[in-house]
Amino acid sequence: MLRFKNFNIITKLNLLLLLIFTIIVGISSFSLSTVLEKNVEQIFTQKASILIDTMSSVRRYTSEHVNPELSDRLETESYFISETVPAYSAKTVFKYLRSIEGYENFLYREATINPTNLRDKADGFEKKIIEKFREDPNLKEQKGYRSFVKGDVFYIARPLAVNSRRCLKCHGDPKDAPQNQINTYGRKHGFGWKLNEIVGAQIVSVPVARAFNIDRRTQFIAVIVISIFSILSILIIDLFLKQTIIKPLKQIAAWAKEVSTGNVTQDYKHKTNDEIGLLAAAINRLKVTLEMAINMLDSKSRSSE
Ligand code: HEC
Repeated sequence: MLRFKNFNIITKLNLLLLLIFTIIVGISSFSLSTVLEKNVEQIFTQKASILIDTMSSVRRYTSEHVNPELSDRLETESYFISETVPAYSAKTVFKYLRSIEGYENFLYREATINPTNLRDKADGFEKKIIEKFREDPNLKEQKGYRSFVKGDVFYIARPLAVNSRRCLKCHGDPKDAPQNQINTYGRKHGFGWKLNEIVGAQIVSVPVARAFNIDRRTQFIAVIVISIFSILSILIIDLFLKQTIIKPLKQIAAWAKEVSTGNVTQDYKHKTNDEIGLLAAAINRLKVTLEMAINMLDSKSRSSE
C-alpha cells in the first residue's frame, strides 16, 4: 500500500512543494483576476463617462444654441426640423462615432418611459434603471454589465430630467408643440412631461468582450510563468537536496554497512562541515569506540583462556 511514511525524502518533499506551489498558483491567479477585473472596469467607466459627458454637452449645445436659432422656422416650415432637438443631435453624433473603426459596438440610448420617438422606448432592463433614478433623486449614476445576443456590454446610466422650460414646448402639452412635430411623431406619446421630472435615462454602453479576452490571456500567461518557475524551483531544490543530503547519507549508510561486516577499517571521509559532516564525524567516533570495546573484549577473553 502507498504510505506517506514509506516514501523517500525527495518524494515527500516534492509532494509538499507541489501542494504549496499549487496553492500559490491558485491564490495568485485568483487575486490577479480580481485586480484585472477592477482595472478593466475602471477603464470602461472612464471611457463611458467621457462619452456620456460628451453626449450631454451635445444636447446642451443643441438646446442653448441651435434650437433658439431655428425655433422660428419650426413654426413656419412645412417639415419638422430635427436639428432643433437635443436628443436628435446627440443620437446623430453618436451614430457618426459608431461609424469610426473600433466604436462599432458602442451604444447610446436615451431610454424613455413615454418617448416621442418609439425607438427610444425603454425596455424592461432600462425601465428598472429609470425607476431607480425616480425613487432616489440623489442617485446620479448607475453602472454595470448587461448581456446582449451580440455580446456583453458595460453601461453607465444617468438620469434624463426635464431641466428647462424650453423642453416643455415640445414635450408638455401637444397644443404648444410645433404642428410639424405632431405631423411627424403624432400626439399620443412624448407629451405630458413635467418640469424637473425624470423621464428617462441616458445610457452609454461599451463592449467588454475584447478587454476580457486580453485579461484572460494575461491571467493565463501569468499562471504559466508562475508554474514554470515553480517546477524549476522544485527541480533545483531536488538537485541540491540530492547532492548535499541524499547522496552523502547513502554513502554513509553503505560505509556503515561495510564497517559492520568488517570489510572496511578506515574512517569515513566527509568533505563538508554541515550537519552531514557532523553526522559523519559522530559515526567515525562511534566506530572508534566500538573498535576499542571489541578490542577490550578480545583481550579479556584471550587472557581468560
Ligand atoms: C423642438 C422640440 C423639442 C425640444 C425643444 C426638445 N425636444 Fe426632446 N425631443 C423632441 C423630438 C421630436 C424627439 C424625438 C427625436 C427623434 O426622433 O429621435 C425628442 C426626443 C427626446 C428624448 C428621447 C426620447 C424620446 O422622447 O424619443 C428625450 C429624453 C428628450 N427629447 C428630452 C428633451 C429635453 C430634456 C429637452 C429640453 C432640454 C428637450 N427634449 C427639448 C422634440 C423636442
